Order: sequence, then structure tokens, then C-alpha cells
Amino acid sequence: MKSLIKKITLEDEEETKSLIRQAIQSGSLTHAFIDNQKNVDRIYDLDVRPAIVNQDPVLFFELDGTNIGMTCVSTCMSVVFDFEEPTAIGVFTFIQEQFRRQGFAYRLHREAFIMLKNMGYKRVIGEILTNNSSSKDSCNYLSDALGIDYNMYGLRYECKI
Ligand SMILES: CC(C)(COP(=O)(O)OP(=O)(O)OC[C@H]1O[C@@H](n2cnc3c(N)ncnc32)[C@H](O)[C@@H]1OP(=O)(O)O)[C@@H](O)C(=O)NCCC(=O)NCCS
Repeated sequence: MKSLIKKITLEDEEETKSLIRQAIQSGSLTHAFIDNQKNVDRIYDLDVRPAIVNQDPVLFFELDGTNIGMTCVSTCMSVVFDFEEPTAIGVFTFIQEQFRRQGFAYRLHREAFIMLKNMGYKRVIGEILTNNSSSKDSCNYLSDALGIDYNMYGLRYECKI
């Protein structure tokens, strides 16, 4: 199998939106997005497109010529706000189910970290839902493989009112 990590461009909008839709359908994104075109378009317009324009790590994982996943890490918040340390935010990563647990998310994140380091970023924050063991496993694997320190912090409070 031939694998390739490719930067996503504005010309890839249709394929990018297809993967955003699959990520919504996986039920793993925060806020329980309803699976509809409006949400796909808004996630693209508000998170993904600005990151592409900013030359941030927005990457496809291509396997034998087909895009089977993507990651979007954005530095836009560090453009909007002044943080103590330049900070990149993991927007989302998605790998199609049949291709999981083969290190593909790891390879996307490893590539994203190289790009971020070259841009002067030393801090990345991603949000993981407590019930998303695949995402936790993938991040643990990433920090072990790269030998990097990490922190797990923060709680998300939700209640019905
Ligand atoms: C979270 C998600 C992106 C992880 O993708 P993934 O490609 O399966 O992640 P990785 O392969 O890098 O995960 C590492 C796991 O694969 C294993 N792995 C890594 N390289 C491997 C290889 N070359 N061969 C076999 N297994 C491998 C690791 O051992 C690890 O498993 P372990 O924890 O049992 O050790 C994927 O499950 C997904 O798309 N989920 C839905 C969307 C989502 O939840 N996104 C995250 C929140 S935005």
C-alpha cells in the first residue's frame, strides 16, 4: 500500500467536506453536531478554511490514491489572541474506521508537529471526550513514540437546565 501525507488546499473543498461529514457521523466531535450540510459548511468556513489560508497543518492521509482521513490543527487563535506561549489548537482528526489502529493518525500528527515547530509553535492543545478511548490511545501512542511530555487537564461541565 502506498501512503502519502498531503497538504489540503482550497481546491480540495469538496473532499475535505466529505471527511468533515464522516467525522460528524462518527459522533466523536464535541457539541454533538447534527449531521447536516449546514454544520459541515460552518465547520469548514469557521475552522478549516481559515487554517488552510493560514498555511497551518491541514493534511490528508492518502492511501493508494484515496484520502482516508485528515487532520486540522489551527494557529488562528494565536493570531486573534495574545497567549503566554504561541499555541496551536487541534480542531479535529478523522481516520475512516477500517483504517484505524495502524498509526495513520500518529503519522498525521507527527507531520503536523514538524510543521508547527518550523512555524515557531511549541505548544499544541487538543480536546478529547472522556468516552473517546480511541482518541486517548492515539494521543498516548503519539507522545510515547515521540518521547514528548504531555498534560491531561481540564474538565467539561454539561448539565440540562
Ligand atoms: C481518534 C482516531 C483519529 C485515531 O486514529 P488511528 O489512526 O486509529 O490512530 P493511531 O493508529 O495513530 O492510534 C494508535 C493505535 O494504533 C496502534 N498502532 C500504531 N501504529 C501502528 C502500526 N504501524 N501497526 C499497527 N498498530 C499501530 C497503536 O499501538 C495504538 O494502539 P494502542 O493504544 O492499543 O497501542 C480515530 O479513531 C478516529 O478517526 N476516530 C473518530 C474521530 C475522532 O474521534 N477524532 C478525535 C477527536 S477530534
